[in-house]
Amino acid sequence: MLTIKTRSSDETEAWGARLGSRLRSGDMVTLSGELGGGKTCFVRGVVQGLSPENAGQVASPTYALMHQYGSQPPIYHFDCYRLRGADDALEIGLTDQLTADGICLVEWPERISTELLQDRLEIRFEHTDGTSRLISFIPHGVRAHELAVQLQQTS
Ligand SMILES: Nc1ncnc2c1ncn2[C@@H]1O[C@H](COP(=O)(O)OP(=O)(O)OP(=O)(O)O)[C@@H](O)[C@H]1O
Ligand SMILES: [Mg+2]
Repeated sequence: MLTIKTRSSDETEAWGARLGSRLRSGDMVTLSGELGGGKTCFVRGVVQGLSPENAGQVASPTYALMHQYGSQPPIYHFDCYRLRGADDALEIGLTDQLTADGICLVEWPERISTELLQDRLEIRFEHTDGTSRLISFIPHGVRAHELAVQLQQTS
């Protein structure tokens, strides 16, 4: 497991960009941790790393539940905070997106744990103090492991 500490939202975004530039269609990344932990900030970095012209569109999809960014491959950004289980996930089309081409970034994955892909890179955000965050990368599966190793090599 790789754990890093960031001291500003820019640093968190930069780590997101490092991961983003390595993601490809079919990858799933989950982002867990308390409100204000930096999950959406990290997603902005991911989009920056993959498709900089779309990074300005990144916003919290808490009410929309999902945003799609016009990158290639497409990025689907879910916020499951308000969901309660697999039926809700079906309703917002999460299950459809998982079988489509694209990259899925999921905030509050614990709400829909039965719908997640087995192979996924879990990221946990912890507030330490003020503007510091601890970010841990926990791979589940072969592909996620490969991503975690690549990230570690850049750290
Ligand atoms: N090191 C840091 N990394 C990320 N964000 C930071 C950091 N320091 C301060 N911040 C601030 O913390 C906030 C993080 O908000 P963000 O929307 O990314 O959190 P979130 O985890 O997505 O929350 P939510 O669960 O409400 O969706 C932003 O206002 C950001 O500027
Ligand atoms: Mg968020």
